[in-house]
Amino acid sequence: MTGDLSPIDKAKFVAAKRAADFIEDGMRVGLGTGSTAAWLVRCIGEMVRDDGLKIKGVPTSTRTAELARDVGIDVISLDEARWLDLTIDGADEFDGDLNLIKGGGGALLQEKIVATASDRMIVIADIGKEVESLGAFPLPVEVIPFGWQTTQALIEETLISMDVLGRQASLRMNGEVPFITDEGNHILDLHLNRIGNPRQLAMVLNQMPGVVENGLFIDICDTVVIGFGDGRVELRDINEGTVTHDRLDFVESENLFTDLAE
Ligand code: 5RP
Repeated sequence: MTGDLSPIDKAKFVAAKRAADFIEDGMRVGLGTGSTAAWLVRCIGEMVRDDGLKIKGVPTSTRTAELARDVGIDVISLDEARWLDLTIDGADEFDGDLNLIKGGGGALLQEKIVATASDRMIVIADIGKEVESLGAFPLPVEVIPFGWQTTQALIEETLISMDVLGRQASLRMNGEVPFITDEGNHILDLHLNRIGNPRQLAMVLNQMPGVVENGLFIDICDTVVIGFGDGRVELRDINEGTVTHDRLDFVESENLFTDLAE
């Protein structure tokens, strides 16, 4: 079945599969959102079913919650868990300091809360997500619907004095209507091309009235597991300063590769 997967899906799968090795019995685990995180959830489901793994999963979106329940993971809320041992999630971009852009799937608010409430955050990604400077991927900013156009104008004006190469913000749409997050908010995607000072930008954005959260994850990610289409994986740990390599075989159960929801 894996023969049908594109190289990019294989890369996402091996990253997710390798990261799942960090999960131990009894852990409370944050479950990310997106196509790479969906592989992770399926891998964990297989570990629960086949190996009797016992964990509690805290999903970062309604769609991850649905998938996690479908594959047999014991799902609890963040308030029930209070604090997590580990969160594993995808990313839209990561740089050499493991700072991230997230929110391509619109779940950045829950993702940031859950990752911040974890002892460790592991990002799973294909190599295409690595960048020298963040910002080629439009930066998602979650804003409340009330006065969103005023918030957009305020953001665009503020960007004039920031170290970025673009300033245009666009309202994310879902077909003909604005995209609505799990919290009932909108997303503005900021087309910045290059972010010179991500830490400063993250702080400035979050000080604006109407902004709920931005998709810059600064000093949150500890480890990135990078997958390649040929089964190789590279693990980089920012705290240990280590880089290790591994290789995975594509020999998995039929279940894991059917009906991938995302
Ligand atoms: C969702 C996210 C995702 O992690 C990010 O968009 C990466 O998604 P994918 O694994 O599908 O490339 O931040 O809000």
